[in-house]
Amino acid sequence: MIEKKIFGTLPDNREVYQYTLTNKSGCTVTIINFGAIVTSLLMPDRNGVLENLVLNYDSLHGYVNDQCYFGAIAGRYGNRIAKGRFQLEGNQYQLSINDGTNHLHGGKTGFSKKLWEGKILNTDSEPSLALTLISPDQEEGYPGTVTLTVTYTLTEKNELRIDYKGTTDRTTILNPTHHSYFNLSGSCANTILDHELSIDSDFITMVDHELISTGESYHVHHTPLDFRTPKAVGRQINERDPQMLMGKGYDHNWILKNFDGHVRNVAQVYEPRSGRHMAVLTDQPGLQFYSGNFLGGTVRGKDGFTYQNRSGLCLEAQCPPDSPNKPEFPSVVLKENETYHQTTIYHFSIK
Ligand code: GLA
Repeated sequence: MIEKKIFGTLPDNREVYQYTLTNKSGCTVTIINFGAIVTSLLMPDRNGVLENLVLNYDSLHGYVNDQCYFGAIAGRYGNRIAKGRFQLEGNQYQLSINDGTNHLHGGKTGFSKKLWEGKILNTDSEPSLALTLISPDQEEGYPGTVTLTVTYTLTEKNELRIDYKGTTDRTTILNPTHHSYFNLSGSCANTILDHELSIDSDFITMVDHELISTGESYHVHHTPLDFRTPKAVGRQINERDPQMLMGKGYDHNWILKNFDGHVRNVAQVYEPRSGRHMAVLTDQPGLQFYSGNFLGGTVRGKDGFTYQNRSGLCLEAQCPPDSPNKPEFPSVVLKENETYHQTTIYHFSIK
């Protein structure tokens, strides 16, 4: 089932719609066509109690002014590009700068701040919503007109499935990602420090003090970044590892094993009190794990609730950061006769 209603009106008077997708077991995801943002996700705990598992604002105003990318599709390029510069087919491009001296998540008005076109695809027990955005040539400095469709499906197995399909009319780069902040406890008054996380990876891409990849990989063995077996996020978050100090906590890209274009299970999160479990499956080579280190003071909306650092965690599937300047990383180049694909699935269950 899908219900559609008006969510709010943008300052330029365009209307924003909210779509509520409900599956066979009564779980729901709400999505707005501004930023292709997931605004709530109701999943049961071990007693069957449905609670919202993503950080959100209670009105459109919050999303328009948001600096944290709550629930959004970040793009064209999710994550950072050093100095916003890269070369493509012999041309030098300069993107907008919006994170210190660097480009982050598509720039000043990236995909997360655009109004997308919504199309209801399926209203049965596995409801599905397609959102399409046309990003013109030179937007934020990127070459080529890109058409991106993101399809959200809530499956009968309680998966939030995200399929991306993108094309361009001229060679460009494309690396979108989904930026929900999850808190499996069901209450954003709790932090995510007791969430037990595992990531199927031996290496992160090393970063400098601006969180720009140095191009080197950093073995997680004997470091707080080792999530090869499940570990509470808070257990080693304050240790003085040099990479942890750069991110003020976890804000790194894990190089995922078995990258061959197929969807595989890459990470798990378990919240012991509620019994909720989330598996992340993706066909992408990298996973940014961000422990919400800069969230503190973000106000939720009318009720004045203030999030704290570590109120939520992001697991963002993508190509490793600054890949346009790192030939050793998988390519994010998209040509006019090619189609970009990504599938990422967040699968919720009880353990
Ligand atoms: C990403 C980045 C973080 C931060 C958030 C948005 O996850 O890696 O450093 O910028 O987005 O606040």
